[in-house]
Amino acid sequence: MPNRYLIANWKMNIPPEGIVTYLDAVKDANAVIAPPFVYLKDVAARFANISAQNCADQKAGAFTGEVSADMLRDCGARFVIIGHSERRTIYGEDDGLIARKLEMVIDAGLTPILCIGENEQQRERGHAVEFCSDQLCAAAIPQLANANEIVVAYEPIWAIGTGRNATGAMVAEIVGAIRDALERFWPDGLASRTSILYGGSVTPDNVDDLIADGRIDGFLVGGASLDSKRFLALAEAMKRLPAQP
Ligand code: PGA
Repeated sequence: MPNRYLIANWKMNIPPEGIVTYLDAVKDANAVIAPPFVYLKDVAARFANISAQNCADQKAGAFTGEVSADMLRDCGARFVIIGHSERRTIYGEDDGLIARKLEMVIDAGLTPILCIGENEQQRERGHAVEFCSDQLCAAAIPQLANANEIVVAYEPIWAIGTGRNATGAMVAEIVGAIRDALERFWPDGLASRTSILYGGSVTPDNVDDLIADGRIDGFLVGGASLDSKRFLALAEAMKRLPAQP
């Protein structure tokens, strides 16, 4: 059975109320926090489940400015976000690079949070399902067989940071397609342990529509995760997810 996750992706921000005040407020939330690299240790000292937002596609060596998955584990990270659309679109990360990062994260014994999702044009042309399936196929590396757990985050690019979230019905359709693609392309048995999250303008106001279908395993939250009150409201909403079969 997939685990359920609520993940705060701070991106290149810190909560306006301050890291310590924020962490004190959310200390009892069942959640994962993904701060910028340099705050990982500080956050890990006060909060149990920590994720990095990125990692290198190499183990070690002459790669100025990069941070390896092993180093992130040493800083207390349990998860690493891979292939966020901001990495894909702004920094030109392609499926090949993301597959290598996935390998590094699995080799380090960490759980990857693999982000996929279509852009607006692909959705308008009716290609969203096909595009997301292709991204999962590109991530079907042999090392997946060694992974204890993988998290897939469906984050349509047009919904990220725009205030235009996907509807519950759109998310339900893609979650079904992701489950099919996982069964087809990924090692036997892994699909049933893979959590599927939604991300893209999730807020306490729209979360109930997103959980109604009951197939989503949680959320990757950017903007609304920077305010402890809004993030706690999302942690409460997670408790309203229907019981797993
Ligand atoms: P958002 O970001 O909640 O601000 O749309 C989500 C994400 O990029 O992970």
